[in-house]
Amino acid sequence: MVSVFSSRQRNAIRLAVRFIAPYRWQSLGALLALIVTAGITLSMGQGIRLLVDQGFMTQSPQLLNRSIEFFLLLVVGLAVGTFARFYLVSWIGERVVADIRKQVFNHLINLHPGFYENNRSSEIQSRLTADTTLLQSVIGSSLSMFLRNLLMVIGGIVLLFFTNPKLTSIVVVALPLVVAPILIFGRRVRSLSRLSQDRIADVGSYVAEALGQIKTVQAYNHQQQDKQRFAVTAEEAFDTARKRILQRSWLITLVIVLVLGAVGVMLWVGGMDVIAGRISGGELAAFVFYSLIVGSAFGTLSEVIGELQRAAGAAERIAELLQAPSEIEPPASDLLHLPERVSGRLTLEDVSFAYPSRPERNAINGFSLSIEPGETLALVGPSGAGKSTLFDLLLRFYDPQTGRILVEGLPITQLDPLDLRRCFAMVSQTPALFFGSVEENIRYGNPDATDEHVQAAARIAHAHEFILQMPEGYQTHLGDGGLGLSGGQRQRLAIARALLVDAPILLLDEATSALDAQSEHLIQQALPSLMKGRTTLVIAHRLATVQNADRIAVIDQGRLIAVGTHHQLIASNPLYARLAALQFNAHQEAVV
Ligand SMILES: Nc1ncnc2c1ncn2[C@@H]1O[C@H](COP(=O)(O)OP(=O)(O)OP(=O)(O)O)[C@@H](O)[C@H]1O
Ligand SMILES: [Mg+2]
Repeated sequence: MVSVFSSRQRNAIRLAVRFIAPYRWQSLGALLALIVTAGITLSMGQGIRLLVDQGFMTQSPQLLNRSIEFFLLLVVGLAVGTFARFYLVSWIGERVVADIRKQVFNHLINLHPGFYENNRSSEIQSRLTADTTLLQSVIGSSLSMFLRNLLMVIGGIVLLFFTNPKLTSIVVVALPLVVAPILIFGRRVRSLSRLSQDRIADVGSYVAEALGQIKTVQAYNHQQQDKQRFAVTAEEAFDTARKRILQRSWLITLVIVLVLGAVGVMLWVGGMDVIAGRISGGELAAFVFYSLIVGSAFGTLSEVIGELQRAAGAAERIAELLQAPSEIEPPASDLLHLPERVSGRLTLEDVSFAYPSRPERNAINGFSLSIEPGETLALVGPSGAGKSTLFDLLLRFYDPQTGRILVEGLPITQLDPLDLRRCFAMVSQTPALFFGSVEENIRYGNPDATDEHVQAAARIAHAHEFILQMPEGYQTHLGDGGLGLSGGQRQRLAIARALLVDAPILLLDEATSALDAQSEHLIQQALPSLMKGRTTLVIAHRLATVQNADRIAVIDQGRLIAVGTHHQLIASNPLYARLAALQFNAHQEAVV
């Protein structure tokens, strides 16, 4: 049996043991019930023997009565034991899977964002659902089936020997013939089942992507291509599954042929013995009963082994997820703590950074800049210059390859990321809203905020009016990703959310880009009072938005080109002057 387990499977077993360990009493109870029911089933053979030899042969009603009473007693024991076994085993399966799901999710939610660039989140999602469901079916049934049938096989063989050693030797000779193909085909099934799981994940992720972008799909009349591509994915999944099923079918067929063949031989030899009077009819009946039990238990074992191997694959993938290390972690030693009141001083020292997926190209290049507490700094520059990337670095979603970033003079790599991120309130370029009510979305970063605070933040973000016009006001439910709001409304909710957090540093990435000029102007008017005492970094393409900033940083191709006020830069920086001129002219045309 040892050879059945590869090192990867041992990993899987370790995972299962780790998660089952807390429920050792339930497991013990299940095991007990399992042994009792297996024992009772096996003892039925003796009942049959009694029944045949003493009940029918001797024609004595008393003995028959005794036999039947004994039989009914066994039935009651079997019923009770089966109830306990089924309940406990299923309970453990469900319980363990709930624990695994929670632990995997808790781990995933803390992983560094870069992890999700190399791993499609839809695939991870399928691991969390499909793989855990597989595990649940295994722990909650197949595993107990495996143990039960193993007990039956062992107990059955022992009782066979007890009943008739000569006939049993046939069974023993037949055993290796049955075991060998099981192992060979079991291995093939296992490798195919991993493939099969991956294909299913492909199908799932394809659907999620296409349906999530349904408007784009239909606007470009892309349905036909999508249908074809999906058909290919679905057919591939089917193909892999077909191969697996074929192997399994062979496996089952072989087992049946071999096992029943052996039973046939036994019946023939045993029948001869009965005719010759060497054994009783009851003995032969019990013997056939046991060999059928052993045979069917073997059949089940071979099936269940395939299942267990599939589950081993699933457990392995889950273990992989659980072991994926987060690259953004608090330092192992020398953990620093931010002071109670953070003034909002930011320093970037010669920071260079390339995204892991594009290591050859620096998105940020030799960037040095100091931002004073309470200062409002605007970041401008062409699309793709690296502005949003700077925000990602400040929040430590990624670590720069060289250089340092300091908050309050402390290197952010020496801080707990939780501590660091408490300093920031961010409105990202693509405002992220969640399934839930408007109010929940605003309260997102500050669950303790009172209703008054929520409304005050919404007022400043000019969201209050449109929220009140929605069917249920603040309790209106938004769809996935804030479905049901216009682009500008989403932005205003995102601003309200950031305002409610009351963090010392405010990061606004194109926060007002989708707003009409008037709303934007009103928010801009409100912002200075809010920004008082806070460091604010504003990314904006519209220069009108950034003119009031204390300083403006011009960024191009990941480099800091110039820093200064609007007027200084117009005079000194050609790139800024060009951007300003373009917008100024465009503005004039619009006015004219
Ligand atoms: N996750 C990523 N992986 C690899 N490259 C990325 C990733 N995100 C951004 N980039 C690249 O990094 C560069 C800087 O991107 P960034 O989003 O910081 O630009 P930006 O200045 O915010 O532009 P915009 O004004 O269009 O928002 C771009 O060339 C972009 O293609
Ligand atoms: Mg950007």
